[in-house]
Amino acid sequence: MTIEFVGVEKVYPGGARSVRGVSFQVREGEMVGLLGPSGSGKTTILRLIAGLERPTKGEIWIGGKRVTDLPPQKRNVGLVFQNYALFQHMTVYDNVAFGLKEKRVPRDEIDRRVRELLGYMRLTEYANRFPRELSGGQQQRVALARALAPRPQVLLFDEPFAAIDTQIRRELRKFVREVHDELGVTSLFVTHDQEEALEIADRVLVLHEGRVEQLGTPEEVYEQPETLFVASFIGESNVWRRPVQGGAVEVAGLRLPVDPAIPNGTPVAVVVRPKDVQLHPADREEGQGQILRSAFKGAYSACFVRTRDHEVWEVHVPSADRHLLSPGAWVRMDVHKFFVFPA
Ligand SMILES: Nc1ncnc2c1ncn2[C@@H]1O[C@H](COP(=O)(O)OP(=O)(O)OP(=O)(O)O)[C@@H](O)[C@H]1O
Ligand SMILES: [Mg+2]
Repeated sequence: MTIEFVGVEKVYPGGARSVRGVSFQVREGEMVGLLGPSGSGKTTILRLIAGLERPTKGEIWIGGKRVTDLPPQKRNVGLVFQNYALFQHMTVYDNVAFGLKEKRVPRDEIDRRVRELLGYMRLTEYANRFPRELSGGQQQRVALARALAPRPQVLLFDEPFAAIDTQIRRELRKFVREVHDELGVTSLFVTHDQEEALEIADRVLVLHEGRVEQLGTPEEVYEQPETLFVASFIGESNVWRRPVQGGAVEVAGLRLPVDPAIPNGTPVAVVVRPKDVQLHPADREEGQGQILRSAFKGAYSACFVRTRDHEVWEVHVPSADRHLLSPGAWVRMDVHKFFVFPA
């Protein structure tokens, strides 16, 4: 199922403009990650797709059908929330069967479907337990089974793993991606965790104050950010604000060329990713900065360099080279790649 937003606005009673003129298209079978700060409108967008909210303006299309005014039960959308929202007084089996009973599906068909899903979610032996007798990861799999029971063609996830520890979270993430691929559904996945979004999603929708900043593949939003917000929100970055002088900006004693059409004195923001800088040992005279400290991150180490004008840069170096960079050492910096945005 494709999902399309056309100029969608959502103003809540009380005046909060949560979604402002949002348009985007999700392709059939795609998994799109929604990323953005708290309050940027992620949950509101999912609720609009599910039909739990009506847009104030604009149109929503699912599978080529205009659903703007359709009630939730006619949209064939499954939801998985952060707080599993399982029915505490019902067994695992009854939780998964719930949506099917509501739909008045015949009993033997319900039984077949529930057992199939429990098997698929590796929950068969837990069918008769109550939610409080399960771990967080197991409860989240029950929630997923329950959402899948009525065979939705669209799946919406709202920070489903926020309360789950890292290891289980990684497994669940892979599992959700497998389920998505196997069932051929279209999914939207909200997360605060960028790494999670970049890993799991085919494309990432970056939201800021109710607006779409960029919709692109993980590589695109990381390597070709379209706005200063995206460049600084996705991945690590050093951001320096400077006026343009003679077709360049000067940072840490380096002259970085910008579009020659930008007039002198125009303030711009220069964004440099820590991986796009190379450090070279230097002597005191030619050094541009001094190592403050470095932090071991596994394959690379994050080095913090204080420049002569007292700015602190984050630079990533292979951990194998870390011994060259002891605190106090002087270094030169080569910038391989940078982005320039209006400031
Ligand atoms: N029912 C509501 N009534 C009034 N305002 C609301 C309602 N729900 C959300 N808002 C407001 O709409 C804006 C967007 O909220 P939303 O829940 O979509 O953000 P979010 O991106 O999901 O944030 P978070 O990451 O914190 O979950 C916020 O300013 C919020 O206060
Ligand atoms: Mg939310």
